[in-house]
Amino acid sequence: MMKTAWETLLSIGSEGGVLELKGRLTEDGWYFRRVVSDMEEGSRRFSAEGSDEDGLALLDDYAWLSLYPLYVDNKITTAVRKRVLFHRYRNESAFSAWIESTFPEDDWEAAKLVNWILTSGSTVVLTGAGMSTESSLPDFRSKEGWWKNIDPRTVASTEALSHHYDLFHSFYKARLDNLDQASPHNGHRALANWEKYGRIDAVATQNVDGLHQAAGSQTVYELHGSIRRFRCHQCGEELPRSTFIEKEACSCGGRIRPGVVLFGEMLPAEAWEPAMEKMERSDLSIVIGTSLEVYPANQLPAVTRGRTAYINKDIQTGAGDFDLVIRGNAGEVLTTMNTYMDEVLME
Ligand code: OAD
Repeated sequence: MMKTAWETLLSIGSEGGVLELKGRLTEDGWYFRRVVSDMEEGSRRFSAEGSDEDGLALLDDYAWLSLYPLYVDNKITTAVRKRVLFHRYRNESAFSAWIESTFPEDDWEAAKLVNWILTSGSTVVLTGAGMSTESSLPDFRSKEGWWKNIDPRTVASTEALSHHYDLFHSFYKARLDNLDQASPHNGHRALANWEKYGRIDAVATQNVDGLHQAAGSQTVYELHGSIRRFRCHQCGEELPRSTFIEKEACSCGGRIRPGVVLFGEMLPAEAWEPAMEKMERSDLSIVIGTSLEVYPANQLPAVTRGRTAYINKDIQTGAGDFDLVIRGNAGEVLTTMNTYMDEVLME
């Protein structure tokens, strides 16, 4: 009968000794053995054997993820990762050690955040314009952002709507033209996917572009309204986009505007209130692609009773308030996270 030699697949250090998972390949598949070495006694015991799945269950008597990894063989990395991502760590340094020995260095932070999501009872995401730049919509305050060349009060305020309608109109017309070319990217789809898995409760967004919904997210709170809806500023009647594009007047004589929040206006209560409520009850808030310069949306992340994470291309001041900061493009970071999320959740 064919049998290979015993190989060490996983080696874990504890205060008193070393816990190992050995394996060898037989004609019927892998056969595993738990080996416990006690340093003081100098003893070595084969304390359990079996051919179940990946053999990791043989280690479970030892709370092995609270100990430190010494060696993880490539053959078992995927199985170990799954355990690492679902484990609730009490010891931060053991958490880091397991992440670092099972994920590529560039993905350590992304993998940590996946663990936080998988062990959180309730997670709420807050997004800003940086979420949509990879869908080729400019943000507001970056080098290429809208507010670098235009003063928002001249185009995006109630003042502009009332007194400089042509400027107001051409600004939102340009935004709509941009939006016609835009579609959600893999980062938007990743968030929708995690909601489907029941891993995130809601996305609160400052974006008015509707790309989260287009990607499949169901619970989206549009804190700054939507540029895809139009109404009369005077009587509030909902009107089709064409009436705005054609600069028609409402039958009441009022001006037609997109359903976005203008400078000088309150946030819509139907978005703000449930977003706040969900955030207050959350164990984790994840903030993506926003400068957090605009009140009151920037107050949301801090009301979580749990942990906070920030994913942004440029890390600015204020990032120090977050428990985890990931510098990178939202689409790329979320896509990486989604790969690991799928790896452990897709059966
Ligand atoms: P900002 O333009 O203020 O901030 C966008 C942030 O996203 C910046 O910190 C960028 O560095 C970052 N960023 C850009 N591209 C990114 C990417 N691909 N991945 C990750 N990060 C990226 O936009 P907001 O914070 O959304 O309000 O601005 C908030 C509000 O200000 C907007 O909703 C709008 C604006 O005035 C209204 O119109 C009412």
